[in-house]
Amino acid sequence: MNETPPRFPWAERLCPRLLKSPWWLGHIPFAFELVARLRPRILVELGTYSGTSLAAFCQAAEACGAATVCYGVDLWEGDIHMGSFDASVFREVADYMAEQHPRSAVLLRKSFDDAAADFADGSIDLLHLDGTHTYEAVANDFRTWLPKLSDRAVVLFHDTEVTVDNAGEGARRFGVRRFFDETKSGYPHLELTHCYGLGLLVVGARAELAVLELVELAGSEDFGDYFAAKGAEVSRRFAPLGQELPRLDP
Ligand SMILES: C[S@@+](CC[C@H](N)C(=O)[O-])C[C@H]1O[C@@H](n2cnc3c(N)ncnc32)[C@H](O)[C@@H]1O
Repeated sequence: MNETPPRFPWAERLCPRLLKSPWWLGHIPFAFELVARLRPRILVELGTYSGTSLAAFCQAAEACGAATVCYGVDLWEGDIHMGSFDASVFREVADYMAEQHPRSAVLLRKSFDDAAADFADGSIDLLHLDGTHTYEAVANDFRTWLPKLSDRAVVLFHDTEVTVDNAGEGARRFGVRRFFDETKSGYPHLELTHCYGLGLLVVGARAELAVLELVELAGSEDFGDYFAAKGAEVSRRFAPLGQELPRLDP
C-alpha cells in the first residue's frame, strides 16, 4: 500500500539540537521546512543571542545538503527589550557554532547597520529580522537590508504577535505587527501566530516554487495548527532545561 508523503517532510524529519531560549523554539519546525525548500546560498540573521534560531537554520541547511552560509549578526550587548546580558552568551554561542557548524555558521559581532556593508547587493536569499523590535528599528533594518536581497529572497519577521498578555508591558514598545501589516500587501506572504508570531514575505521576484507553495498552503485551515503543534512539541522539550533568561519587560 502506498503511503501519502508528508506535506512538510523537513518539519517531520528533523529534531532540533540546540534549545537555548524559549522565544523562538516554536518556529524551529517551520524553519526546517523553509530552509530545505529555499536552499538559501546566503542567510543573514539580525539578532542571534544564544543561537536557537541560527542553529536551526544551520541544521536544516546541512541536513538538506544546501551549501548555505548562515551569518548571525549581533553586538551581544542586549537591547531595550532584553536589557543587558552576560558576556558568556557570546562565548557559548561562538563555541557551539565552531564545534557543531564550522562550515555553515559565521558570527559577526557588529551593529546591524555596520554589518550591511559586508554583503553585496542582491546576495542574500534569507533574511531573519529578530533584533530590536520597535517600529523604527524594524523599519530601519528592513530598508537597510532590502538592497542586499536576491531575486529569490525571503524575509522573516519574528514577534508579529507580541502582546501585553504574552510579554507584559514591554510589549507596548514592539512595532513588528504594525510594520509587517504596512508592508505585507506588496509581497506574497504568510503568518504564523504561535510563539510570539512569525511573518514571512517573499520579496524576490523570482521566488522558488516550493516557497510559493508554502504561502499557498498557509491558506489552508490546518496550516497554522500544524506548525503550532510541531512547535509546542519543541517547547515541551525545552521546559525541563529551566534556563534563566533576560527579561522581556524592562
Ligand atoms: C530577541 S534577541 C534574538 C533571539 C534569537 N534569534 C534567538 O533565537 O534566541 C535580539 C538580539 O538582537 C541584538 N540586537 C538588537 N539590536 C541590535 C543592533 N542594532 N545591532 C546588533 N545587535 C542588536 C541583541 O543584542 C539581542 O541579542
